[in-house]
Amino acid sequence: MYKKLRVHGRLINWFLGAVYDFSRFVLYGGWRCDLSDQQERNYYASKVYHSLEKSMSYTDHNPSSGWANAAIVIEILEAAVKYKNAGFHDKVAALVLGSFIEKNNGETTAVIANQVRKKFDHLKSQIDTNVEDNFGVFNSSKNELNKGRLSCPEDFFFTRHSIREFGNVDSSVDKSTLEKAVRLSLKTPSACNRQAWHVYHISDQKKIKKALSHQKGNRGFGHKVNDLLVICSDIKAFNPGSERYQHWIDGGMYSMSLVYALHSVGIASCCLNWSQQGKDDKGFRKDFPEISNSHSVIIMLAIGEPKENNQICVSPRRPMSEIFTEL
Ligand SMILES: Cc1cc2nc3c(=O)[nH]c(=O)nc-3n(C[C@H](O)[C@H](O)[C@H](O)COP(=O)(O)O)c2cc1C
Repeated sequence: MYKKLRVHGRLINWFLGAVYDFSRFVLYGGWRCDLSDQQERNYYASKVYHSLEKSMSYTDHNPSSGWANAAIVIEILEAAVKYKNAGFHDKVAALVLGSFIEKNNGETTAVIANQVRKKFDHLKSQIDTNVEDNFGVFNSSKNELNKGRLSCPEDFFFTRHSIREFGNVDSSVDKSTLEKAVRLSLKTPSACNRQAWHVYHISDQKKIKKALSHQKGNRGFGHKVNDLLVICSDIKAFNPGSERYQHWIDGGMYSMSLVYALHSVGIASCCLNWSQQGKDDKGFRKDFPEISNSHSVIIMLAIGEPKENNQICVSPRRPMSEIFTEL
């Protein structure tokens, strides 16, 4: 009887968790597509202008397609100008739309295309398009792409382990090395390039203790952690119901990239699960009000320098035959 109750209790907990997630989406998600909200609009901008980038990159590029999305970019840019709060993706949207129009110049006479061109001529001088990165489409040779090949991938992949006790006993990790890893991790792919992730760094011992008091899985080593990252994903970036899992997926992919980026610069880490019910998630947020309400916690990550000698769990891997199937 008790066993049965416990099993069904899991279903109830699952349901309560789903209700909590739904309520967070209602309160903080991007379903309103509110163009006055800078962040919400920027995520939306990326989703839309990225379709123009893709259309320009195709070998069989069709100059008369993509104009409906170009018209949405115009709406986005109009809002950025109106609310005087252009963000990164707004600026890139303006740049991408400019090259989209240029690429398709004169190749389509559709009414919508003419409207977009006219409105963009009026808008373009009103948006500051100063961004640090490139935009649009570029060419790369196979040779160039193959520079990513490692002569011995095993050396990289098989030397990453979850490390729970670190060598830097009294100090934090080097800030510039940490920042380098974070910069590398930004290359993680994301749905429509929305990059909805956010990393919070905690190096204050009292705060780490407080944060880890809400996490179930750091017993035995949590008290020795000197640097803690809280990796989040912004639910403002996702608007349709079909994207209800997307922030977990993008956040999970980002987390893994960051773990590998850290490994590439010599910082060890241990993922710490955030499989929490609403009550625990709320408790953590209460202690850390600086964490944006729309940021869902994906994982915490304990990081530090490896010790000279480390005692590590093997964590054996399942055989290929169990996880790979040719269809
Ligand atoms: C999402 C996630 C959550 C995890 N949570 C914890 C945790 O709470 N405590 C812990 O000690 N290890 C945690 N781990 C580490 C796993 O135990 C570890 O990745 C696994 O055993 C494989 O070992 P390896 O990372 O050394 O290859 C977590 C790993 C992942 C990916």
